[in-house]
Amino acid sequence: MRPVEIAEGVYWVGALDPQLRVFDIIMKADHGTTYNSYLVKAGEKVAVVDTVKEPFYEEFLENVRSLVDPRDVSYVIVNHTEPDHSGSLGRFLRDAPNARVVCDRNCRNFVRNILNRDVDPVLVQDGDTLDLGGGVEMRFVHAPFLHWPDTMFTYLEQGKILFTCDFLGAHYCDDRLFDDLVDDYSHAFEYYYLVIFRPFKKYVLEALDKVQGLDLRVIAPSHGPILRSDPRAYMEKYREWSSLPVPGQEKSLLVFYASAYGNTAALAEKIAEGARSEGVKVTVMDVAATELGLMIDRIEAADGIAVGSATINGDAVEPVWYLLSHLATLNLKGKVGAAFGSYGWSGEAPKLIADRLRGLKFKVEEEPLRVNLVPTEEDLEAAKDMGRRLARSLRAQVG
Ligand code: FEO
Repeated sequence: MRPVEIAEGVYWVGALDPQLRVFDIIMKADHGTTYNSYLVKAGEKVAVVDTVKEPFYEEFLENVRSLVDPRDVSYVIVNHTEPDHSGSLGRFLRDAPNARVVCDRNCRNFVRNILNRDVDPVLVQDGDTLDLGGGVEMRFVHAPFLHWPDTMFTYLEQGKILFTCDFLGAHYCDDRLFDDLVDDYSHAFEYYYLVIFRPFKKYVLEALDKVQGLDLRVIAPSHGPILRSDPRAYMEKYREWSSLPVPGQEKSLLVFYASAYGNTAALAEKIAEGARSEGVKVTVMDVAATELGLMIDRIEAADGIAVGSATINGDAVEPVWYLLSHLATLNLKGKVGAAFGSYGWSGEAPKLIADRLRGLKFKVEEEPLRVNLVPTEEDLEAAKDMGRRLARSLRAQVG
C-alpha cells in the first residue's frame, strides 16, 4: 500500500499483513495486522517513527523513497524495540546512513542486542524535545512497561499527533486505515488490550495520566487503525479496563464450566442461581468458549470463583487446566474458590481442581461437588445450596 498523509507533512509509510493469523505465537489475529510506521517531513529535518517487521522492509522502504531520499532522513525514533517494529531498523540504517536512532535509556540495550552493534543513539528522557527545524518539534513521553521496559510515546505538537506504538493498537488490517472509515473493530481493540496490556494496568493508568493534558487530534499506534474520530474515547476505554474495582462494591462470583454433554453446565447454572438468591452478582462462563484474557481480567476483579469440569480419562479437561495455569501471577489470596463437575465413572476432576485452587491461594472450604452423569433434582438442589453457601462466604469477606 502506498503512503497515506495523516496530517500535513505526516505520512503513514507502514505495511499491511492481512494474511497473519497468529501473532507472536500466542495471539490470534483473525483480521491480520498492520505494521504502522510514520514519516514526518513537516519540518526541515525528516524523522521516521518506528519501522516494520523485517519481511515487509522493501515495501516500507519503497514508501519512504516515494516521499524522500532515505539519505535525507535525520532521525529514526524507536518507541519500542520488539522486532515487529524494529526488525527493519538495521537494514534501514544502512539505506538511511545519515539517520540517528532516537530512543530512551531502557531502549538502548535492546537496540544494541537487536543490531548486535552500537549506534550512538540520541538518548531522550521524559519531556525532552527534538527540534526538526521550521518550528516543528517532537516531544517524548516516558511510558515504560507498555508492554516492554523500553516503551515511550512521541508527540508531534504541530499535528497534535501522539505516536503510541503498541498502546491503543489492534491487530486489525484494513487499508482504509482510519478508525472512522473501517468497520467496527472494537472486539480486536479489546482483545489486544486483554492480551498485551491487561498485565500492566498500573503502567497503563500512569501513562494515561501523563498524556491526559495533551492537546490531541490523532493517536497513531503501530498496529491497526489510526484513531482520529474521538481519540480520547479509546483512552477512556483503557482507563476503564485498567481501573481496579473499588472495595465495598457488590460481591461477585464467577462460575466457570467445561461441559461435554451439558451436565456440568447445568450444575454451573444452579450454583449461579443459588448465589444470586443471596444477593451476589454472578457471571457464568464457558471456559472453552471464552477468551483467556477476558477470564483472567474478570477473576482479578471477582471475589470468588467456582470451577467445574467433566472428568475425562481421570482428569479435568484441557481448557480448565489452561485457565488455571495462567493465574499464578495474580493476587488471589482470600478469594473464595470451589470446584464441581459431572462424571461418568471415576470423577477426579473436581478434587484436582480444588487442590489447584488451594495451591493458587484461593480459600476453598467447600467439599468438591461431584455428580454422576445427569444431575437429579437433588443434585441440582445441592448445587444451588453450594451457590448459597459460597455467596454467604463472599459476604463474610472483609473488604
Ligand atoms: Fe507490536 Fe510489542 O510489538
